[in-house]
Amino acid sequence: MMQPRVSSSDNVKELAQARGSAYLQPRASHRLFLKIILPVLALAGGFSVFAMYFTRLQIGFPVVGTAFQPCVEDTGGLEQWIRPPSDLMHSMSDEELLWRASWVPQVKRYPFKRVPKLAFMFLTRGPLPLSPLWERYFRGNEGRYSVYLHTQPSYKANFTSNSVFYRRQIPSKVSEWGQMSMCDAEKRLLANALLDLSNERFILLSESCIPLSNFNITYQYLMKSKYSFIGVYDDRGPYGRGRYNPNMAPEVNLEQWRKGSQWFEVNRKLAVTIVKDTTYYQKFERFCRPHCYVDEHYFPTMLTIESAHRLANRSVTWVDWSRGGAHPATFGRSDISEAFLKRIHDGQNCSYNDNHSSLCFLFARKFAPSSVEPLLELAPALLGFGL
Ligand SMILES: *[C@@H]1O[C@H](CO)[C@@H](O)[C@H](O)[C@H]1NC(C)=O
Ligand SMILES: *[C@@H]1O[C@H](CO)[C@@H](O)[C@H](O)[C@H]1NC(C)=O
Ligand SMILES: *[C@@H]1O[C@H](CO)[C@@H](O)[C@H](O)[C@H]1NC(C)=O
Ligand SMILES: *[C@@H]1O[C@H](CO)[C@@H](O)[C@H](O)[C@H]1NC(C)=O
Ligand SMILES: *[C@@H]1O[C@H](CO)[C@@H](O)[C@H](O)[C@H]1NC(C)=O
Repeated sequence: MMQPRVSSSDNVKELAQARGSAYLQPRASHRLFLKIILPVLALAGGFSVFAMYFTRLQIGFPVVGTAFQPCVEDTGGLEQWIRPPSDLMHSMSDEELLWRASWVPQVKRYPFKRVPKLAFMFLTRGPLPLSPLWERYFRGNEGRYSVYLHTQPSYKANFTSNSVFYRRQIPSKVSEWGQMSMCDAEKRLLANALLDLSNERFILLSESCIPLSNFNITYQYLMKSKYSFIGVYDDRGPYGRGRYNPNMAPEVNLEQWRKGSQWFEVNRKLAVTIVKDTTYYQKFERFCRPHCYVDEHYFPTMLTIESAHRLANRSVTWVDWSRGGAHPATFGRSDISEAFLKRIHDGQNCSYNDNHSSLCFLFARKFAPSSVEPLLELAPALLGFGL
């Protein structure tokens, strides 16, 4: 005798009961689907359309942590790979950031319209007293620059939403002059700026720096330069080669040892060279400690070894050492005059793209907070911006 066939739904029922889970009769589940699940699905669908609509419009929801990711990548387009980070206050560690920043496309031609930008990287302790001057300098040049601000971690910048510095602060750590922590801060600025694919030239500035020309002149000068501007020289005295430690060989030899100014300007290629370096970093961290001031030697030396032919060996940031001593002159309200600014501008003679040029400096330091008023006044006539 044949055993009565057990329907498959009975099997399922038994299985479900055996596992202790609720089992719904087909009719009941159908009703439940219509009454509850369908409306929920409809609502969810409606919400995702709504969410997509808002993301398309680029309306920024306040983002807390990384829980909410804008879903533009749903389109599957190129946009997701070329969009700069919307929030500079990311949660990457330095190690993660440097790794991410070292990515370089191997196809040299960009398959989209890329307007190269200047990245202005401000390394400051706290406030930017000369910011009114910079605001006027940048005005009208949107899309051709980006601004980054590294302060001591305790300082929270408070710029209003119409400022070029608004929400441009990057995650920072304590940095001290003459220590590796200063180079770390500079690397952090470069790495954050590299995350924006449009940034092509990277300028390190301090809170006491001012622009000497209008934005267009700066832009042309840097974009058309074959070389990166970093002051580099071979000082054979006690404050140059005298600081070399033979333990740095063979990575760094005495003849390769260089000294230079901290306030550099580099192109994207050299920015990556700096960010990805671990070889020279280890040597300098171990063997260049006070009285070897690492921020005067690390970048000039490693860039000379890696890319000497790309260096102008001079800085575009003017500074006055003529008063002597360990620190350059600082200029305040009473120093600022037409004659003073003309003195910085005129009578210069330097090499630009292997040719003589009278335009040698695009920025200058050091300027005290009190200088901002006379500078704003003289800027339209003498610096070419801020009318
Ligand atoms: C930040 O700036 C705003 C507007 O300028 C001001 O109202 C607020 O008190 C400032 N906050 C701090 C902490 O300085
Ligand atoms: C700077 O250059 C841009 C684009 O080339 C131009 O639109 C603008 O008028 C220039 N500004 C000045 C002050 O020359
Ligand atoms: C800068 O100096 C290096 C040697 O340190 C040299 O190879 C390079 O050609 C110099 N750059 C220019 C523009 O002269
Ligand atoms: C700049 O200096 C070079 C020599 O270093 C000289 O040949 C040239 O004529 C000078 N140019 C000006 C404008 O003084
Ligand atoms: C130097 O400048 C002159 C005039 O501006 C130009 O004719 C010449 O081609 C330039 N030389 C080089 C090597 O760029």
